[in-house]
Amino acid sequence: MFLWGTATASYQIEGAVTAGGRGPSVWDTFAHEPGRVRDGHTGDVACDHYHRWQEDVELMDGLGVGSYRFSIAWPRIQPDGVGAPSQEGLDFYDRLVDGLCARGIVPAATLFHWDLPQALQDRGGWMARDTAARLADYAAIVAERLADRVPLWITLNEPFVHMALGHAFGAHAPGQALMLDALPVGHHQLLGHGLAAQALRAHGAERVLITNNCTPVWAASESDQDVRAAEAYDTVHNRLFNDPVLLGKYPDLSAYGVTNLDVVQDGDLSIIAQPLDGLGVNYYNPTRVAAPAGPAELPFEDVGITGHPTTSFGWPVVPDGLRELLTSLRARYGDALPPVYVTENGCSQPDDLAADGTVDDQDRITYLDGHIGAVRAAMDQGVDVRGYYVWSLLDNFEWAEGYTQRFGLVHVDFATQERTPKASYHWLRDRLAAHPEPW
Ligand code: NOJ
Repeated sequence: MFLWGTATASYQIEGAVTAGGRGPSVWDTFAHEPGRVRDGHTGDVACDHYHRWQEDVELMDGLGVGSYRFSIAWPRIQPDGVGAPSQEGLDFYDRLVDGLCARGIVPAATLFHWDLPQALQDRGGWMARDTAARLADYAAIVAERLADRVPLWITLNEPFVHMALGHAFGAHAPGQALMLDALPVGHHQLLGHGLAAQALRAHGAERVLITNNCTPVWAASESDQDVRAAEAYDTVHNRLFNDPVLLGKYPDLSAYGVTNLDVVQDGDLSIIAQPLDGLGVNYYNPTRVAAPAGPAELPFEDVGITGHPTTSFGWPVVPDGLRELLTSLRARYGDALPPVYVTENGCSQPDDLAADGTVDDQDRITYLDGHIGAVRAAMDQGVDVRGYYVWSLLDNFEWAEGYTQRFGLVHVDFATQERTPKASYHWLRDRLAAHPEPW
């Protein structure tokens, strides 16, 4: 059965950051540092989903989706990042999972969507190898409690983005700007993925995935320099996280002056290359790159894409890029590519609430229609796609952009917490009712 779903993440929607004994995460710390997040926004309240989850499950039920991808807040389960779990934390997800199952919605749980317990950051965070083992401990705890009802598990969300924005450029928590010295964060996350996958399976998880953010990379011209720059970008954005998992080896990083990843220990790659039941792919847009104009720290320059509509974020809307991405994954990995789940796709739009109380987000409808069509086209070209999750169910805390970028099918008034389904919600509901398969 093809899984249609919506996706969210704990820090972006839950709020209630001290409820039930939850410990602080790196995002609590970061968001409270002046100047880090637009307009000083934080996830302290967010969509208050921690208290309003029943209403949100009802919204999913009304939408008619068969699955819900959410993330578990590690600091709710282990407030200090280690040791015995908080029963109150586990109870919250237990109730949520029961609520989903009662409505026939398949829960898909992400273990790590960037909200690392601050206590682990204080011990080195993802720069420290130990954090990989801690992820596995946490995985075992949550799987033991939930895997009897949660069939689908995602170890990590977008480890590339967490490494790049969180540790190389400092735009996300924990705010480190280490540039290429952030590479150990990539390896330790991947090691954590492999160890967590083992722990999840040992505790009954049926399907284990990793979610990578992938982008088709377009060279700005056919010149050798631009083609090489595109290859270099593809290596760090896509292959650095797909190759070890699917092929058990790292791609050649010599374009970055890296010939030896000395954090990699014997045996790590075989742990990382656990057989997977699926690859989660988050797609937003292609990336167009050129060779840097002058001396530069990185061997590429993002030169942007013109000639396409853009979202509120300014991201180009290229539905066919999703078909291109999915078919190129199949071409690159062949039979090593497990079934693919599009674990996120969506767009931010202005989404103003009209005087009559409606949100007429026609651009989102066009976006979703085009991208669902692209999934269908990729399937017709031989890619085994098993699911498609819209980012997001609700408008929510969009990381460094705070509440200024609205991605939801449901509008949230952050002053009152009132939820208003947008036109796209009604459109998707009708579409799913008419076409349970992705035609
Ligand atoms: C990917 C991330 O997983 C999610 O947290 C974020 O909100 C969306 N992209 C949109 O930027």
